[in-house]
Amino acid sequence: MVDLIVGLQWGDEGKGKIVDLVAKNYDIVIRSQGGHNAGHTVVVNGKKYALHLLPSGVLNPNATNVIGNGVVVYPKQLIKEINSFGHDIKKKLLVSDKAHMILDHHIAIDQAREKLRGKNAIGTTGRGIGPAYADKIARVGVRMGELKNIDKLIDKLTHYYEMNKGYFDYLGVKIPSAEDLRAELQEWQDELGELIVNTTNYLWDNMDKNMLLEGAQATLLDIDHGTYPYVTSSNTIASGALTGSGIAPKNLNKVIGIAKAYTTRVGNGPFPTEDFGEAGDKIREQGGEYGTTTGRPRRCGWFDVVAARYAVTLNGCDEVAIMKLDVLDGFDKVKVCVGYEIDGKKIDYFPSELDEVKPVYVELDGWNGSARVTKWEDLPENAQKYIEFIEENIDTKIKYVSTGAERNATVIR
Ligand code: GDP
Ligand code: IMO
Ligand code: MG
Repeated sequence: MVDLIVGLQWGDEGKGKIVDLVAKNYDIVIRSQGGHNAGHTVVVNGKKYALHLLPSGVLNPNATNVIGNGVVVYPKQLIKEINSFGHDIKKKLLVSDKAHMILDHHIAIDQAREKLRGKNAIGTTGRGIGPAYADKIARVGVRMGELKNIDKLIDKLTHYYEMNKGYFDYLGVKIPSAEDLRAELQEWQDELGELIVNTTNYLWDNMDKNMLLEGAQATLLDIDHGTYPYVTSSNTIASGALTGSGIAPKNLNKVIGIAKAYTTRVGNGPFPTEDFGEAGDKIREQGGEYGTTTGRPRRCGWFDVVAARYAVTLNGCDEVAIMKLDVLDGFDKVKVCVGYEIDGKKIDYFPSELDEVKPVYVELDGWNGSARVTKWEDLPENAQKYIEFIEENIDTKIKYVSTGAERNATVIR
């Protein structure tokens, strides 16, 4: 049985928290796309863990964690994360031999290109994600399994560096010396070699077990269906998780969509419900809305039902988790976007170009008291009404309402 957790907005919905919460029910937790651009925060017994490449199942003693073929792996980051948890976690970690590697020059290209774009910058995390996926699609990338034969890999990379010399010089991107390259690749093979396997076969061999696919980034950052070009470079939606793991569609049992009770975005690009006033600032402060990966302040605004419905449909969500409801404590009124206006015309669908739309809001009453509870009946009445309003409008069961960062601060309906 395979279930999937996927973000419904622009990332940072709280996927890590829900993966950690439910991980005890699963034998295998799998990351299938993205790389260390992700930042999944998990809080257990007051201790905060920030995971970038490791699946959020690592905080659970039982689950085996898999980094699937669709992930782009920066080996240095993976080694760093493994070391921060202790080498014991290697016993329950596997990395796909088909996963592509992020090398230092990918990171340098990402950052140089962002600089050259100036005001049109995407606002990437600067982690080399786009350039690594570009090489994969151009069929000039290198895969984790290639660390097995370092001589051959060095030949391949030397040729690649030569072919790209003009472009690298233009961007000011340095390439490593042959000795440095060899030393680095050897270190990665020594540290990670035992973990690198054919994870496709591993997953197929374990199809009788319970598996959880952990999405990174989110629907509106999807390379095809997101707000292009202000997106990430992978398919972040449910179907991307299947490609990125080798699991066939018919094995998918349940899709759980994760959304915040409001909306945030890091990086540039359209965001119709962004609030530039006091409300936006209040959400940022109450929600601690600063990036897990880059520390950037997140742009904040209201819940967008049109975008959520689009995301629920794209992913085929069976149920939804609404996160961080507690952050909306103390607002007199809470707004929800229920439609867009484009050239004076009202639309109720998510358009291919989001730039020009104006949000149409309904205003609901806020609540007195706090949503920091763990039972539905203890939620303030207006908080319940807020959740029910969203549920009706996205036409999908809201199964979880998260009311705090801790594992147990969750209402399960
Ligand atoms: P992810 O990338 O989707 O895993 O989300 P992030 O970890 O980047 O961002 C979510 C942040 O909100 C993290 O700091 C979590 O600890 C925190 N968080 C998650 N759920 C809740 C909640 O219900 N209430 C509050 N106040 N914080 C939460
Ligand atoms: P998690 O998994 C939020 C955003 C970047 C930028 C765009 C492209 O924690 O939800 P990239 O470095 O991927 O080329 O940047 O995507 N972005 C995220 N925003 N959460 C993330 O991951 C993100 N990963 C990438 O800010 O706008
Ligand atoms: Mg995050």
